[in-house]
Amino acid sequence: MILPIYLYGHPVLRKEAEDVENDYPELKKLIDDMFETMYHSDGVGLAAPQVGLPINIFVIDGSVLADKFPECKDLKLAVINPELEVIEDGAPVIREEGCLSLPGLSEPVKRHEHIKLNWLDEDFNEHEQEFTGFASRIIQHEFDHLLGTVYTDHVSGIRKQMIRTKLNNIAKGKVRCEYRTKAAPKIN
Ligand code: NI
Repeated sequence: MILPIYLYGHPVLRKEAEDVENDYPELKKLIDDMFETMYHSDGVGLAAPQVGLPINIFVIDGSVLADKFPECKDLKLAVINPELEVIEDGAPVIREEGCLSLPGLSEPVKRHEHIKLNWLDEDFNEHEQEFTGFASRIIQHEFDHLLGTVYTDHVSGIRKQMIRTKLNNIAKGKVRCEYRTKAAPKIN
């Protein structure tokens, strides 16, 4: 089932997400729905807050980017209750990013090159793996969503001024995109 994607400005994107217990109702269905929603909207990652749930889950599939970023070739994961550790052995990298909650926008973002992720898969098996390059970037972007952060929070002051109008329009639900969205509730 394709779920509506909550837009920038919706308060659920600003909550700190909570850990998921292994008796969470219909967890596998939720993860299937998140993958389906991500593929339908041509995304490479989707975090639970983006479908209105402030819980510690994200899904990623970077395989479509493998030609440009070989490190993304087999990057398909359902990630539950992750912990992320930065490995400080490379200079930060700046690259363009976008987000399904901010349609029509992309901006350069500085990210760590190398991380280590601990997480549970959908069967609650533990995993630990290191990631570099664009794989590391996708994971950092999705992990940010679980902290209530979006990538434009990392955009520097002057760029942020330049995109202010676009951000305000997204927050008001003034977007054009091919997938279903849900805008912030109107404040009177
Ligand atoms: Ni995003």
